[in-house]
Amino acid sequence: MNPSPAASLVDRFGRRINYVRFSVTDRCDFRCVYCMSERMSFLPRARVLTLEELAALGRAFVALGVRKIRLTGGEPLVRQNVLWLCRELGQLRENGLTELVITTNGSQLERLAGDLHAAGVARINISLDSLQPDRFRRLTRTGELEQVLRGIRAAQAAGFQRIKLNAVILKGRNHDEVVDLARFAIKNGLDLSYIEEMPLGVISDHDRAEAYYSSEAIRTDLARVFTLTPSTETTGGPSRYYRIPGTDSRIGFIAPHSHNFCGDCNRVRVSAEGRLLLCLGQEHSVDLRRVLRAHPGDRDRLQQAIIAAMHLKPHGHEFQLGGQPIILRHMNHTGG
Ligand code: 5AD
Ligand code: SF4
Repeated sequence: MNPSPAASLVDRFGRRINYVRFSVTDRCDFRCVYCMSERMSFLPRARVLTLEELAALGRAFVALGVRKIRLTGGEPLVRQNVLWLCRELGQLRENGLTELVITTNGSQLERLAGDLHAAGVARINISLDSLQPDRFRRLTRTGELEQVLRGIRAAQAAGFQRIKLNAVILKGRNHDEVVDLARFAIKNGLDLSYIEEMPLGVISDHDRAEAYYSSEAIRTDLARVFTLTPSTETTGGPSRYYRIPGTDSRIGFIAPHSHNFCGDCNRVRVSAEGRLLLCLGQEHSVDLRRVLRAHPGDRDRLQQAIIAAMHLKPHGHEFQLGGQPIILRHMNHTGG
């Protein structure tokens, strides 16, 4: 029996879940200091969902009313054949998916932007924390700024609209670049979101409480140079947006510490291992890989497992700045 076409995902708090993020790999060619420890071990292949399993998940979620799918990682574009998955998911636009989007570090965009656009990817978010090559290298440990800048240009040339930059701002590392980053976004017709670091996984690089730089502080820095006008626009995520009159850029703030956005949370995540994570900041999860592998091809069972998981979705995260993180998984497992 197929669930009714009007099936939808609603949690105990009445929040409608219409957005899902898939971490398609835990691997990455960068080692950003806030995301990974210097030496990471990655999952063995057999524990990572296959592309077919991810496509099956996409179909199940869209049948349950999901309208937006974001592919993340790790770095989604280092996954072999990720274009195949994009094409499969892109076809779900006929079944009600309105947006297939990607979050990437940009390193592979020069090579892949055109194909991603052709595959039906609607928008791209690109992480960019610094415009200074040496600093960029220090923050990403292995990344090369120029390669990412070429990737941004390739995405623009491929026809992507409303490309958004994501910048994690850390005190003492890149907080003095918030104005430069905004200027870069404005000059290139890009949107930009500033992100407060979230305590996911144990990292060795810095003390997260000491590196905390609030969205409020960033707004103050920007206000010395620009006029910021609050905007009611949303991109379906937790960013709060501002406009700078005379420019086309939207400036967003993702502020888990200073502005709790859980009340209108509309999303869940699937980890690279196929764990359905009901909240970025809590451990509640359901093993969808087990369902996929025990009952291959049984979409009804998969949908029932997803529906049943909704009552586990907690009210919100409990991120704290001091002490050890309560969430031990790193962002590359979770999907940013
Ligand atoms: N806190 C906030 N953002 C993070 N990202 C990775 N780790 C963290 C963290 N601990 C961001 C990356 C990228 C997206 C995938 O998630 O910078 O923009
Ligand atoms: Fe890779 Fe993104 Fe994590 Fe950086 S933040 S190490 S680019 S997954």
